[in-house]
Amino acid sequence: MNRIKKHPVLEIKERKEIKFYFDGQEIKAFEGEMLSSALFAAGIKIFSYHKKDSAPQGIFCANGQCAQCSVIADGKVVKACVTAVKENMKVQTLRGAAPVSCDKSDKKLSFSKIEEIDTDVLILGAGPSGLACAFEIGKFNLDTIIVDDKDKPGGKLVLQTHKFFGSVEDCYAGSRGIDIADKLADDVKKYPSVKMWNNSVCAGVFSDKKIGVVKDGVYYLIKPKVFVVAAGAREKTLMFPGNTLPGVYGAGAFQTLVNRDLIKACEKIFIIGGGNVGLIAGYHAVQAGIKVVGLVEAAAYCGGYKVHEDKLRRLGVPIFTSHTVVEAQGKNCLESVTIAKVDENFKPIKGTEKKFKADTLLVAVGLNPVNEFYTHALESGINAFICGDAQEIAEASAAMFSGKIAAHKVLKSLGFITSEVPNFWYEKLEILKSRPGKTYSLEELKQEYQGKVYPVFHCRQEIPCNPCVTVCPKKSIKLSGETIMSLPKFSGECIGCFKCLVICPGLAVTIVDKRKDEKNPIVYLPYENDPALAEKGKTAEIVDDYGEDLYKAEIVSVLDMKAENMRIIGVKIPAELAEKAASLRILSHEEGEKWRGDISKLDDCVIVCRCERVTLGEIRKKIKEGVRDLNQLKALTRAGMGACGSKTCNSLLLSVMKSEGIDTKEITDLTKRPLFMETEFAVFAGVSSKKEDKTSFSGF
Ligand code: SF4
Ligand code: SF4
Ligand code: FES
Repeated sequence: MNRIKKHPVLEIKERKEIKFYFDGQEIKAFEGEMLSSALFAAGIKIFSYHKKDSAPQGIFCANGQCAQCSVIADGKVVKACVTAVKENMKVQTLRGAAPVSCDKSDKKLSFSKIEEIDTDVLILGAGPSGLACAFEIGKFNLDTIIVDDKDKPGGKLVLQTHKFFGSVEDCYAGSRGIDIADKLADDVKKYPSVKMWNNSVCAGVFSDKKIGVVKDGVYYLIKPKVFVVAAGAREKTLMFPGNTLPGVYGAGAFQTLVNRDLIKACEKIFIIGGGNVGLIAGYHAVQAGIKVVGLVEAAAYCGGYKVHEDKLRRLGVPIFTSHTVVEAQGKNCLESVTIAKVDENFKPIKGTEKKFKADTLLVAVGLNPVNEFYTHALESGINAFICGDAQEIAEASAAMFSGKIAAHKVLKSLGFITSEVPNFWYEKLEILKSRPGKTYSLEELKQEYQGKVYPVFHCRQEIPCNPCVTVCPKKSIKLSGETIMSLPKFSGECIGCFKCLVICPGLAVTIVDKRKDEKNPIVYLPYENDPALAEKGKTAEIVDDYGEDLYKAEIVSVLDMKAENMRIIGVKIPAELAEKAASLRILSHEEGEKWRGDISKLDDCVIVCRCERVTLGEIRKKIKEGVRDLNQLKALTRAGMGACGSKTCNSLLLSVMKSEGIDTKEITDLTKRPLFMETEFAVFAGVSSKKEDKTSFSGF
């Protein structure tokens, strides 16, 4: 079984084992886990064969947004990523078109009246912004319902094992995402007026100002005085040959498998995208004992935080900037990935291709806001607000703060407060949302250190972050500018308490200690990976800021910071190298093979709409014939007509139009209509097998 049995950060809890059947084969799963994770744990990565060309399909988003992971479970077509395994469930590969489920038994259906619920506030999404918003509203004792499609609040935070940036006072900077999720949920739990409806989806927003929600197979119509959309974001996908092979999926899906469900999803991964999501997913893979073969970024530099990039590079992951993936290869599942350098127009350069063996390719090319509920709410005249990634893609720290701002607006619109949102809140939000600023060279930041023990900052890029400053008991770390974007600088006394090293989310603080030996000081390095690779007495490969070899050093001490789920590794290093030591390298590089394909001929076969397997060639043909309206394109090719409701391909279709030289003003986007989520028709008639008392809806 592909289960993670030990993890440097996550606790492996005992879970109850159950069994189910996949195509007749008995499989063990854990109670409550999603089918997709249970199948991955059993090494099954193909869930269906497409009706159009019998192509094998695996997961893509593992978040209920696409429909790639459809299987048949107990006779019904379901998305495996949002369907919990049940004891003795009979699951089958979906082959071809989805069968219409037809209950031939003569059992009587029971119909009940659709319940309508009035509430003060309905919040869609229990991620960082939704919870932060609910917390502020809870203080006013307003009837509030939070609807979320997961079984636990926290949104994407529950997938994040790393510590977060931002400021300690505004957004729990220096805490791990998984812990922030618990803290936010605990905060909200204090207010009984806030009800958490988990495992619930918002099916649609209607013109009679009601919002349709399906919870546990029961349909409700909710009429809120205020509707807050905090629905987060969905992952973008990318066009390249082989992009739908099982084994090619989103970075969020990977984090779900690995960090939420503790599945060792693969052996070797390659990553597309040097934004924070791709960089962090790479780091999470290393923590889970998965080899990261490389990461490509089409731009000349990674767009994510440099501290995230540095962490990965220093562990030994090659980062190929100005490169792209030109093909993903494999018979039924991914077996290898070919990358190539790109020119200034981002076109692959012939002759620069390299092929790497990998069983998984993570697509981390950005996020699209889930904002269709908000647009419809406004069109329907509902008093609606939006926050978090649904409003603008940014870090979770910014999402929390925007949730707080949304709450203020809600309270004002309901007459509970009269003041406007303070201006400095918006200023703070802008800082938390900031893209990384200037990166300074080591030369520019060179510092003469006094004293026998002192911190060295390997944090050279302006990002919104300050926990190292907040935590120093001697107040010896100060920011070099006015805002938390500026870099930290040490001056004054250091007592070697390690607090700055421990709290730094970027693992960018080391401590040089010359108290026992001036010529060969001990350098203390933060470490969050497999303890077996950094044991006392072993020789460690120490690298500098750039991830280059610096010194082979003996590990002289290992401090297990249990409460922080990390270790501090002490290595002895000659004094002249001590300040350059930035990390331990634990991975070895793999050389790519030469590849002899022809990149110029690959384009037209690329899949754009994965639900309906419509190719780039088919779409280009229609554009050449004059099609400018995506609704017409949909009618002619089925692109956008699939089970995901165009959530996956809509942005790709627009980008194809633009890349074919069509002016944005000429393009008509797809018309979005409820239902926004796949919903069984029977629920609208009030048919259900299970009806719960709404007073039991506390999912915290
Ligand atoms: S080790 Fe402790 S005293 Fe020294 S700079 Fe860091 S936080 Fe301050
Ligand atoms: S050194 Fe300080 S400012 Fe830089 S990433 Fe670490 S905690 Fe943030
Ligand atoms: S990818 Fe789902 S409709 Fe196109």
